[in-house]
Amino acid sequence: MISEKIQEALNGQINAELYSAYLYLSMEAYFQSQNLPGFASWMRVQTQEELTHAIKIYDFLNERGGRVILKSITEPQAEWQSPLAAFEAAYKHEQKVTGLINDLVNLALDEKDHATNSFLQWFVNEQVEEESSADEVVQKIKMVDKAPGAMFMIDKELGQRVFTPPTIEGEQ
Ligand SMILES: [Fe+2]
Ligand SMILES: [Fe+2]
Repeated sequence: MISEKIQEALNGQINAELYSAYLYLSMEAYFQSQNLPGFASWMRVQTQEELTHAIKIYDFLNERGGRVILKSITEPQAEWQSPLAAFEAAYKHEQKVTGLINDLVNLALDEKDHATNSFLQWFVNEQVEEESSADEVVQKIKMVDKAPGAMFMIDKELGQRVFTPPTIEGEQ
């Protein structure tokens, strides 16, 4: 069984992961409107990853005898000033999510819920990657700032990213 508190917090995190997917899907649409298909495709992969995060928590909650309750998802921003601004927002968002995961771990420890704590460690590690991959693109865009043709090159590079679904439960 799972405590009411942990159940509520995990339901909250399912919502946060779905919002992340929604935000990145919105960024994909923005990049499509800017004729940057590689940037858009990178965001599609990111959206798919966020959906798997939500499902991972969903499955865990069910497995522990909890009850999944889906709440409404906040409308994401639709426009950004520039590709750089969008990726800076993505990086900032990932930092926020890392904070949410850390709060969840703290709660699991307070509640002495070791199974939830152990489950959450995958997310702790995943957030290190999430922050670094968004920041990597921010740095790339900053480096080529205003160089003609450079955005085209980055767009081509970002278009190479592929989605790899998690294979073994709890690992990716
Ligand atoms: Fe996530
Ligand atoms: Fe993320």
